[in-house]
Amino acid sequence: MGRSKLPSGWERVDQALEALKAGPPETVPRTPLARLEALRKSLGPLWGGRAAEVLELRPRAVAKFARADEVLLVRRPLEQATALGVARARAARIVARLGPGAGVLDATAGLGADACALAAAELAVVAGELDPELIPLLRHNLGLVDAAARVVRADAARPAVRADVFLADPDRRDGAGRRQGHPESWSPPLSVLLGAAGRFRAACLELAAGTKPAFDLELPAAHSLSWTSLAGELKELTLWCGELAGEERREARVLAPDGSEACLEGRADRPVPRAAPVDPAAGSAPWWIGELDPAVLQSGLAGALLGTPPLAGAGLGFLGEDAGYIAGAELPPSPFYRRFRVLGSAPLDRKRVRRLLAEHDVGPLTVKKRALSEGSRELERRLRGTGRHPGLIVATALPEGRRAFLVEAVEDRDSILPAP
Ligand SMILES: C[S@@+](CC[C@H](N)C(=O)[O-])C[C@H]1O[C@@H](n2cnc3c(N)ncnc32)[C@H](O)[C@@H]1O
Repeated sequence: MGRSKLPSGWERVDQALEALKAGPPETVPRTPLARLEALRKSLGPLWGGRAAEVLELRPRAVAKFARADEVLLVRRPLEQATALGVARARAARIVARLGPGAGVLDATAGLGADACALAAAELAVVAGELDPELIPLLRHNLGLVDAAARVVRADAARPAVRADVFLADPDRRDGAGRRQGHPESWSPPLSVLLGAAGRFRAACLELAAGTKPAFDLELPAAHSLSWTSLAGELKELTLWCGELAGEERREARVLAPDGSEACLEGRADRPVPRAAPVDPAAGSAPWWIGELDPAVLQSGLAGALLGTPPLAGAGLGFLGEDAGYIAGAELPPSPFYRRFRVLGSAPLDRKRVRRLLAEHDVGPLTVKKRALSEGSRELERRLRGTGRHPGLIVATALPEGRRAFLVEAVEDRDSILPAP
């Protein structure tokens, strides 16, 4: 795909970086400082500094751009850019619902991570951005994927482009880079984006992952919310409107780095039972703990997960007050949690835990903890045993007292989460 025409400063940066790649490796200065000095010498202080920054940022951009080795970047917009796996899953949903070739206005395109994934999925993309400094970079990055994609300098609050889908990922930081929690302090504010979205067949508004969906705003009649995680990390809360809305109001979308996706839909008002207080040391083994994916937790769909087959009726429930773990006598593999087989458990005091570790010949420990005031590192130091094997402890507070579970992680073929 061809490269688009850049203004002269960025053109020189692009050429200098291409020349570095093309030259023999021994001619590339080894340290960041030496590279900065060499680039400043050839491009001058301003453009040399920008070129050095691009060079420094490209390895990080691998998580956001398929052609990270060629994109032009600046630091803060790169931090705000959507992760590649999330952007690809979004593009796939738009293609699945509206068909290949549908028109998408990415109204707050930044450096173009979302826009590039949409264009790679052969959607007809128009990328809008208000910041004039970003326009040449956006045009270059998008041009690497789709020479026909248009870039416009435009205000997302007043979209003048015709398209099927309105996509917006508002700026959620203030001028000093601090995160802004309230949707009305974003740029553009959420109420403004909702107004603009209403003029399109469908819309996708990206909200901060931790945003509570208790907006004081009127949402469109057809809408749904998705909490999306990638490789076990919560990435985004998405508001889908119109023809992109899901059947149910809430979804947990669990994405794996290989592109596979599992989606749980439901309503949040299903009660979640408490797990029976089984002590595997006394009761019948095996006994299982499942660590819920953060998308399931945040979406409030744990009750829906436990209430539908194959988990319904399996006697599973939350382990303790904190909703992060489920537990029970049987736990089938699933993409929505990571499984741990319980080897034994003890009250969370040093002597009792050490006795448990000795029974299993465990020495060094990794501790995963919830609902406890101590840090994991502190517990690892305090509890470690003298045995030969490394061990994994899940420590949490139960109504009957604080408890440590010695567990082994199960690598499930069906699970798309990485092993701990
Ligand atoms: C979170 S970033 C978008 C990142 C982008 N989705 C990506 O994946 O690279 C938000 C962008 O919105 C732009 N922006 C803020 N207010 C805007 C407005 N009123 N119209 C258009 N763009 C705006 C900012 O300049 C910033 O680049």
